[in-house]
This record gives sequence, structure tokens and C-alpha cells, in this order.
Amino acid sequence: MFLSMGWLAVSCQQDTTVTKPVLEKPSLKNSFKKDFLMGAAVNDGHINGTDTSSLKIIEREFNTITPENIMKWMYLHPQPDSFYFDMADKYVALGKKHDMHIVGHTLLWHSQIAPWMDEIKDPVEMAKQIENHINTIAGRYKGKIHTWDVLNEALNEDGSYRTSNFYNVMGESYIELAFRLAAAADPDAKLVYNDYNLWKPEKREGVIRLVKNLQSKGIKIDGIGMQAHYSLVGPEISDIENSIIAYAKLGMEVSMTELDVTALPNPWDLDGAAVKQNYEEYEGDPVMNPYPNGFPDSMQVKMADRYEDLFQLYLKYEKNIDRITFWGVSNGQSWLNGWPIKGRTNYPLFFNRKNKPQVAYERVMQLKEKKSKLEEAGK
Ligand code: GLA
Repeated sequence: MFLSMGWLAVSCQQDTTVTKPVLEKPSLKNSFKKDFLMGAAVNDGHINGTDTSSLKIIEREFNTITPENIMKWMYLHPQPDSFYFDMADKYVALGKKHDMHIVGHTLLWHSQIAPWMDEIKDPVEMAKQIENHINTIAGRYKGKIHTWDVLNEALNEDGSYRTSNFYNVMGESYIELAFRLAAAADPDAKLVYNDYNLWKPEKREGVIRLVKNLQSKGIKIDGIGMQAHYSLVGPEISDIENSIIAYAKLGMEVSMTELDVTALPNPWDLDGAAVKQNYEEYEGDPVMNPYPNGFPDSMQVKMADRYEDLFQLYLKYEKNIDRITFWGVSNGQSWLNGWPIKGRTNYPLFFNRKNKPQVAYERVMQLKEKKSKLEEAGK
């Protein structure tokens, strides 16, 4: 269906018949251009240009990119005095080449951090290292990286501050420091707090506290990144909606920064226990990996239903939503094949293992087309 949307006939004057076809290529970025940016997290193969098939999708479909891993502290700043910028420079060049909105992910995160940083127990030394980290990186990409995920996952599920090494050593002052430094290093970049499960009412309250605290001190924060790692059944749309409303009320731009929908059972749905990093006991269990040889049509439809519900919501709040970024391009490369159980076959994104659009993609494009037609008809 979306193949036929390509041509817009423009101005037909009576007899001079000037029919000028304007090629408006059907793609996520074109179809949603009045609503929000559409993006994907990119990996080494994309950045190095070796995965040419996925690169074509990225160029055609997306107008914003986020680095899946290469800008995390352990890769970018592996030793106190050494930074490794090769991949990050290539990443920025890729975005620039295609005139994309380039996201930096992430300046401060307790995970995937260099081990030497986790050993620091002196608050003065820690502040000094954070300052060097943010000034060096945000300074290098000043005017080139348009949005920074300044801080990732600083909250617990109940909205309290996560007792990371940052917090244990510096208390909440590390959060203020990070945002102050990022704002000074690149005054034009958008500064974002990014986290998962931000639909949860208790965690939402934690975000509100964090934002209000920064605002009361005159520290710049522009947006909230809701990671949006979802499943076919949860979270409820109304919970996501309430969070979008609450964050928008604080003056925040909201983004879905790591969108994917797992097609597979999560262990915590079965045992109700807290999320762990590894579930070796389930590895190789066919019940937990039900579609190793392909995604059945009935499941494709369920996935499309879920994505349609999500995009209905996103379109409802397009004025408050800046960007929708998928966490990856095609199913075969998604982190959800290896987490929380290794060796599974998952189908969480819009493009299949051959980089062909899934039913969910087509459905979301149809949704947008239907809405545009209704708007044109003034309904
Ligand atoms: C978190 C991080 C991402 C990524 C995912 C898993 O959501 O923000 O950078 O590591 O976990 O891939």
C-alpha cells in the first residue's frame, strides 16, 4: 500500500497543464515529518559502512540517529587520560552526511562505565573526572551533536535515586553537575534525562522531582527520554499517556528514545520476580523462544496492533513529542535476541532479518495516511 503513496500531483492549471510530480518518498521520516523526528540506534556495521543493506534503510527511513554503544563511557573514555574518538567521529560524520538530528548517548550512566571510574570514592576527584569527561566530549561535538542524553537511568523503580557509585560518592549533586557542565559545554544542545519504565507512576514522580530540582536551581534541562522498551501487553497506553502529560506540564519535550516491543515472554512476567541481568536457567527452553524459525502471521498482526496503539498515542501528543527512536534497525540485530535470555529469536522492530518492512511498519504508515486524509477533509 505504501508503495503507491509516492506521487503528489501539484498545480494543474487549465490548459497549460503543468503537472509537476513531486517525489515524496514513502518513509517513516517523510510521513511523520510534521509530527516528530523518526530515528534508530546505529551500531558498528552502520557507522563503519559495512552493513550496506541496513544503511539503505537508515538513509531512507530515518532523520535522527543515536549510537547504540560507541559513546558509552567504557568505550569513549577507557582510561582517565585517554579518549577514543574514532568511532564517535565516524558516527557524527554519518549523521552530518545525511543531515540528520544527531543524538549523543550518553554522558553519565552507572552501567557500561570504565572500571577506573567506579573505583573513585573521593567526591572532589569524582567531580573532577566528570568535568573532564563532559567538557572533553560535549566540547568536541559542540554544534554537531544536537541532543545529549546527559544522564541515563539515575532512578530506581520507586522513584528514589539509584545508589550508583556516582550517587554514593556525591549524592544528588552529581546530577546537577552533569547538567550544568553539559549546558556550558554546548549551550545550543538539547539536554535530556533518559530512563526506562518512565510510565510507572512512582518513577514518574521521581522524574518530576529531578526536573523540578534542576529547574529551581536554574539549571537547564530540555527533555525527558522515555526509553520505551515494551512488550505486546504492557505497559498500558494510559500509563504512558499520563507520563507524557506530566512531563509536558513541566515544560519538557518528550521523546521515545529506545523504542522496541519484545515478541517473546519475559521471565519476570512468569515468576513476578525483580528483573535480573541473566536468566541462564531459561537458555535453550523452547517455551521462552517460541518462534525460532519465523514470526507467524497471527503474531505479526499482534505486533502491528501494539505498534498502532502506540503511534495513535504518539500522534495525539505530537506537539509534545520531539522524537521517536527505535532501538536498532532490523530484528536480527536487536539486543532483545540476547537479553534477558541469550540465544533467542526476537521480532521487536519494524524491519525483518532481510531488512524488509514488517506488518507493523505498514500498519503505522497506514494509520498516518488515514489520519492525514481525515485532517485534509477537515474532520
Ligand atoms: C539501556 C541503555 C541503552 C542500551 C539498552 C540495552 O536502555 O540506555 O544504551 O544499553 O539499555 O541495549
